[in-house]
Amino acid sequence: VWISLRFCVVFPVFLRVSVDDFQEEARRTLPKAVYDYYCSGADEQRTLADNVEAFNRWYLIPRVLRDVTAVDLSVTVLGQRLSMPVCVAATAMQRMAHADGETATARACKAAGTAMMLSSWATSTIEEVKSAAGGEAPLWLQLYIYKDRELTLSLVRRAEEAGYSAVFVTVDTPYLGKRLADVRNRFKLPPHLSMSNFSTDSLAFSEGNYGNDSGLAVYVAKAIDPSICWDDIGWLRRNTKLPVIVKGVLNGEDAVLALKHGVSGILVSNHGARQLDGVPATLDVLEEVVQAVQGRCEVFLDGGVRRGTDVLKALSLGAAAVMVGRPVLWGLACQVRVRLLTARCRSVSEVSRSLVRRKDFSSRM
Ligand SMILES: Cc1cc2nc3c(=O)[nH]c(=O)nc-3n(C[C@H](O)[C@H](O)[C@H](O)COP(=O)(O)O)c2cc1C
Repeated sequence: VWISLRFCVVFPVFLRVSVDDFQEEARRTLPKAVYDYYCSGADEQRTLADNVEAFNRWYLIPRVLRDVTAVDLSVTVLGQRLSMPVCVAATAMQRMAHADGETATARACKAAGTAMMLSSWATSTIEEVKSAAGGEAPLWLQLYIYKDRELTLSLVRRAEEAGYSAVFVTVDTPYLGKRLADVRNRFKLPPHLSMSNFSTDSLAFSEGNYGNDSGLAVYVAKAIDPSICWDDIGWLRRNTKLPVIVKGVLNGEDAVLALKHGVSGILVSNHGARQLDGVPATLDVLEEVVQAVQGRCEVFLDGGVRRGTDVLKALSLGAAAVMVGRPVLWGLACQVRVRLLTARCRSVSEVSRSLVRRKDFSSRM
């Protein structure tokens, strides 16, 4: 007992073997308001739990007696080669977690050979992140459409000039979801930080007082355009040469409309369950979107991806790649290789629908 206790105290880092372990350590380390902001979902957080739980509703059906000595995890998405089918989703204000924030994430993605999506609400500039990424791993800009359209396009221009290769436009945030902890904490950025891509205090989310609400909810209500509709996707496409991907689609009908408006990809996402509680887990609607799209564009998924087996299940149901918001990318990337091998798949192209079966056996196989 003494030896194992001493091991725990002296080598706590060795105990982080899953995303949950990293989350627990973050909970203990971060200021409460920051941890709450990162981890919360909307309202009762039912969809937040369901995003994770959905992966448990599927079995993996592996094949046997295939030579898996050599395995290739790489995929091509949006015309660019990635070392693995796991990318980093946009999460705002990363310097609350680490002094280097988004630039540290960019360095990690560069080392891992995968893509990073930078939030419009980053605490590092578009250009700083580009220089940290060093031109190797793809960078994508996540875009919120502001009431001020010139301002919106100025972000796109800067991303184009810096060599970003896609724009993911978020379509699920006309207003900010009700995140109860953020309201209770009156969430706002610590005074030494700001949303670095904006020059005025009001746009950089660095005003002093947001009243008795979540500061971010007040910010969104002031700045983000709740009137955007499909025509605005056309407007964005006409104003950039970069591929435009919609982030936040949850059904086949919207997927077809997105195609009609010329998108290059669809990200099945419920914003990490932070917007509307009660929407389905993303894995539960993935097949519907994939079937509606019929191979006409790439379909991505985020929400609740926490381990290599989750990645396999999403790929089997038609995702070209998955993205992770909250979790630590490194833990996931290590695990997926092992899970792919154990399921006897030698490359991502060998992952097909037959690898999964819904547990209630009422699946649409
Ligand atoms: C702390 C946090 C901040 C986020 N910030 C943004 C953002 O600025 N823009 C955006 O489109 N999505 C944002 N998202 C949603 C993520 O891009 C992604 O959809 C979600 O985190 C995926 O779910 P997961 O966290 O379960 O992996 C954020 C999510 C979290 C947890």
